[in-house]
Amino acid sequence: MTDPILHTPEEERVVHGAFDYGELARLGLHPSEILDFSVNCNPYGSSPAAREAIAQVAIERYPDRECWQLRQAVLEHELAGLDLPFSSIVCGNGTSELIWTVARIFLAPGTKAVIVAPTFGEYRAASLAAGAAIIELPAEEERQFQPDLTALRFRIVQEKPGIVWLCNPNNPTGVWMEYEQLFLLANTCHSAGALLVIDESYWRFVTPPATYTALNLMQEHSGLSLLVLRSLTKDFALASLRLGYAVSSPKLIRRVRAQLPSWNVSGLAQAAGVAALRDRVHLHTTLAALTCQRQAFFAALQEAGLHMLPSRTHFCLLDVGDARFVRQELLMQRLLVRDCTSFGLSRCIRVATRSAHEWGQLLQALREVVKS
Ligand SMILES: Cc1ncc(COP(=O)(O)O)c(C=O)c1O
Repeated sequence: MTDPILHTPEEERVVHGAFDYGELARLGLHPSEILDFSVNCNPYGSSPAAREAIAQVAIERYPDRECWQLRQAVLEHELAGLDLPFSSIVCGNGTSELIWTVARIFLAPGTKAVIVAPTFGEYRAASLAAGAAIIELPAEEERQFQPDLTALRFRIVQEKPGIVWLCNPNNPTGVWMEYEQLFLLANTCHSAGALLVIDESYWRFVTPPATYTALNLMQEHSGLSLLVLRSLTKDFALASLRLGYAVSSPKLIRRVRAQLPSWNVSGLAQAAGVAALRDRVHLHTTLAALTCQRQAFFAALQEAGLHMLPSRTHFCLLDVGDARFVRQELLMQRLLVRDCTSFGLSRCIRVATRSAHEWGQLLQALREVVKS
């Protein structure tokens, strides 16, 4: 049955990749039949230790609302060598929850949010919900989606936004901003009184590996108004459990915590997160395998004559002419890709690397669908 209620633009939900379960049901398809190239998670799955940890959780008990063990594991394994205090981290029910929380704190009617576009849709939705006006500064395809830093800094000074949202590396383009550029941007935001939020959900997928992160910036220049977001749902493949964290000054983190509901991170997510963070062998072997497949996959896409845009991550944009059509055709072949129309890129699909026999199937299908 179709939904009889008409939605106003404000009520529209953000478009994402991943399964649209209603659509699959309408098409008579089951999620287990579909190869999903539309999400950017580690395709080799989560650590077996995470599943074992979940089985041990006392589900009748409330979880630790302070996430002590989880934050300890984040400090030890994700932020090692950075010398950050425990109080500089807060955990969220996915990075998405933290995006919405930060927007609620720093934005209100009458304020502005700058978004370095095209990018992840939740920044816009969360900023709009907080009542802010949106200023989107789209990077041009002709510049291979590298943001125009001079124009961006100029607008920030001019508009004095409450928040500047930057996704680095960026979804969907895979562009990774250089350290010097980050520093300039952070300085401009600081002088303009804006909080710079840098979403590093995909930093582990940067290829060749990232030699810095925005956390270095935070450490080297402690006065900057900067908040870094990380997700554990991508590299650790825990999407269903919802798990992310934010790093900033203890003062700012206290404000974020005060705006989060108690027990926002479930006991299952905390236990799985701790176990996954400790299993470095699984993380490193799967990501090493992914790096090899990325190279082979990207080379094969180019050899097939597909128009691929440069990316520093394991996902990339393909200019296929009519993204909506290509997505539908591929879905009928049980292959799911991300139609990038919602990013303002109606010619592009986004595809993420999967294992060799899986991307081989996508390549074969793309050869037929895109040429036809
Ligand atoms: C850039 C970016 N940030 C955050 C998220 C959401 O992450 P989480 O699953 O931790 O809520 C996504 C999910 O696609 C994303 O692409």
